[in-house]
Amino acid sequence: MINNELRIGFVGFGEAGYHIAKGLRGRIRAGVLEQGTVNTLIKSGVGERLQQQGLVHHGIELSFSGRRHRINMHELTGGRAITVYGQTEVVKDLIKARLDANAALYFEVTDTSIHDFETHDPRILFRHNGQPHEIHCHFIAGCDGFHGICRPAIIGRLQVFERTYPFGWLGILAESTPPSEELIYCHHERGFALFSMRTPNITRLYIQCAPDDHIANWSDNRIWEELSTRLHAGGDLELKEGPILQKGITPMRSFVVEPMHWGKLFLAGDAAHIVPPTGAKGMNLAVADVRVLSRALATYYQSGQTELLDAYSATCLRRVWRAEYFSWWMTSLLHQFPDATPFHEKLQLAELEYVIHSRAAATALAESYSGLPFDI
Ligand code: PHB
Repeated sequence: MINNELRIGFVGFGEAGYHIAKGLRGRIRAGVLEQGTVNTLIKSGVGERLQQQGLVHHGIELSFSGRRHRINMHELTGGRAITVYGQTEVVKDLIKARLDANAALYFEVTDTSIHDFETHDPRILFRHNGQPHEIHCHFIAGCDGFHGICRPAIIGRLQVFERTYPFGWLGILAESTPPSEELIYCHHERGFALFSMRTPNITRLYIQCAPDDHIANWSDNRIWEELSTRLHAGGDLELKEGPILQKGITPMRSFVVEPMHWGKLFLAGDAAHIVPPTGAKGMNLAVADVRVLSRALATYYQSGQTELLDAYSATCLRRVWRAEYFSWWMTSLLHQFPDATPFHEKLQLAELEYVIHSRAAATALAESYSGLPFDI
C-alpha cells in the first residue's frame, strides 16, 4: 500500500487484510479496544461502525476456585471502559477508508522486498498481477505483521527478546448468546478459558490447549464440554451451545525487537512485538505505534524536524514493555503450566485472592487492562 503525496511506503495489512479482501476466513483475531484506541480510530475517521456496533464494557470477571468476581474497571479507573469490536472489523474499516479515498492499495502482491532504507531513496519492490513494481519513498512503514518481510530485512541490527509459552489457545467463534454480558477470564485446574463475544448473538471462546495440539483432536462436543467444565456452567451461568463458525489454535508468545527503527524503516505492530492475547493488548499496541509514527511524520513534513522520528523507537518501547509485562502477568496468573508444582498453583490462587480483595491490586489490573494513557 502506498501514499504518493507524502511518499511514505506502507508494507502492511498482511494476512488479515488479504483474508478480508478475498472474503476468506483467516486466523481468529482478538477484539478488545482500549479507550485511547477507540478515540484514535474515531479521530482518524474510521470510527463510525465501531461506535454503532462496538460493545462497551465497564468491567471484567475473574473466575477461580468455583466462584466469579467482578473487577469494576469503570469505578477503579475513574470512568474508563473497553470496547469489544473484532480486529477484522477494524481492518475492514481501514481498507474501506483507503478505497474511499481512491488511494493506492495492492493485494496479492508477491516477491515483496525493501531496499536502500539507509539512504535518502528507500524503495519497495514487488509484483502485482505478474508485473514488477517499484515504489520510491522517503520512509517505509513496516506494518506487515510477525511473518512479514520488513523485520527480517534488518534483523542483524536488532536485539531480540523472546519467550514462548508451553501452551496455546484454541479459539472458536460460535453462533450462541454469550454466557455473560462481560468477559470472563477463568483460572481452572484443567487450564485457562476465556468467554468473550463479538455481538449479542456471537460468542468468542478460548480454551488453553497444548502448543502442538491439532484442531482435529477437538470435536465440537469436546470443545463445549471443556468450556462448560472450566466455566462451572450450570450454576448461575448457562453456556448455550450453537453452531461453531470458526476454530483455530494460536501459539502464545512474547516477543520484542529493539530498536523498532533503522534508517528510514519504521516497524509497527506485530512486525516489532507480540504479546500473548491474555492481556488483550495486541491491536492496541499497533494503533499506539502508528499514532506515534504519524505524529512524527506530520512534524517532519510540516517543519523538517526529525526529533520525533528519532525518538520513535524509545517512545513506543516504553508502552510496549508495560504491555509485555501486563500480558505476561495475566498469562502467568491464569494458565496451568505443565511444569508447575502444587506450590506454584497455591501461589497463583493467593495472587488471584489478592487481586479481588485488595483495591490497590484490583486497580492495578483495571488500569493496565483498560489502557495506558497516551502520554507515556
Ligand atoms: C477476544 O474477544 O477475541 C479476546 C478478548 C480478550 C482477550 C483476548 C481475546 O484477552
